[in-house]
Amino acid sequence: MDKLKIKGGAPLQGQIQISGAKNSALPAMAATLLTAEEVTLENLPMVNDIITTRRLLRELGSEVEFPSNSSARLKTRNVISHEAPYELVKTMRASVLVLGPLLARSGRARVSMPGGCAIGARPIDLHIKGFEKLGASVATEYGYVEATAKRLKGANIVFEKITVTGTENLMMAATLAEGTTTLGNAALEPEVADLAQLLNKMGAKISGAGTSTITIEGVDTLHGAKHSIIPDRIEAGTFLAAGAMAGGDLELVSCDPGHLTSVISKFREAGVNIEEGKGRVRVRGGSPLRSADVVTHEYPGFATDMQAQYMALMTQANGISLITESIFENRFIHASELVRMGANIRIDGSRAVVAGKSRLTGATVIASDLRASASLVLAALVAKGVTTVDRIYHLDRGYEKLEEKLRSVGAHIDRVK
Ligand code: EPU
Repeated sequence: MDKLKIKGGAPLQGQIQISGAKNSALPAMAATLLTAEEVTLENLPMVNDIITTRRLLRELGSEVEFPSNSSARLKTRNVISHEAPYELVKTMRASVLVLGPLLARSGRARVSMPGGCAIGARPIDLHIKGFEKLGASVATEYGYVEATAKRLKGANIVFEKITVTGTENLMMAATLAEGTTTLGNAALEPEVADLAQLLNKMGAKISGAGTSTITIEGVDTLHGAKHSIIPDRIEAGTFLAAGAMAGGDLELVSCDPGHLTSVISKFREAGVNIEEGKGRVRVRGGSPLRSADVVTHEYPGFATDMQAQYMALMTQANGISLITESIFENRFIHASELVRMGANIRIDGSRAVVAGKSRLTGATVIASDLRASASLVLAALVAKGVTTVDRIYHLDRGYEKLEEKLRSVGAHIDRVK
């Protein structure tokens, strides 16, 4: 199993290119199941979740080619299987995103129930209730969700709780339903709006994506299209934290500062020096950081996917900060690993109390999920001595060439087999 070895203390200087958003690319790939024609996706991040999705789509009958290392051509002339098996779903929960497209295109889908994961229970009850509202019969037995429908029928669905992939799954399913669907209390995440753009290029009639009410007028068929995935706002936020902690002068290019508003304003409150430009953000480290409380929230609030990285940042800020996790019930596993590196963090239910500034020292630490892994890498960049981050397969699922990008701006980071 690969590990990362990081020697802390080097300032970061230079430019980093931000990749396409993983959480936009995954639903976009699933959406291509909705048509028999070819869809080209550009600005894809070549991370392991994309490779897993390719495996899944191929099992379902798609031809998937990667003509370059950031684009894919996908074509599903015929759906040959309706099943997302346990082996794939257990490695990637986002596999549930094939439920909506399969059900809409061929009236049947069988997807292994994703269990809980390191960050929480993560049920999919709201996806299921939505499919039932669209007229599907849904059974959950033998560890699988099986949904069937002759043709889905438009409905008025109001989510009890905001769900990102739930909104995406229902939006995809409704594109081919008979009649009009409205999704209320929909997720506002930019990835939802990006998916709607792709679907509209494929011939769907969706309005309101990016607001809390999305309207989808069903059509009979969708066609091929070409679409470029939006930049990864969480990858950009992670590098912003790296620049703020390690010092130096770092510029992130090919990103969208408009998607980082809450992160940038929270970082500024904590004393981070950030300049925004068109498609770029510059962070200059070195100035003292101060504590600032944060509560994670759905978009446009402070993303739960930035909480672990923010905790690493707050270990380097003077004062006490309260970090409240309001989306997932168990997303603080990184805290105990940060403590092993010298951080002063106490967990009290959904709140973490971080007292800084701490002198961090290198240790062997274990990554528990994607963003937790990122927070350990950040801590390692400022720790005295060498940190070994184990189980980095979590990182490889969602960060493209993380160590190459960091090394190119001066970090002492190596992958060891
Ligand atoms: N929820 C339910 N029932 C449902 C669906 C969700 O109770 O049917 C709850 C969840 O348990 C959670 C909350 O609603 O407490 C929000 O979950 P959501 O459905 O929005 O999360 P998700 O769609 O499974 C996506 C991202 C996550 C990100 C969350 C929150 C993708 C592929 N994944 O997950 O990304 O943390 O939204 O923003 O888009 C990551 O990239 O590291 C990651 C975990």
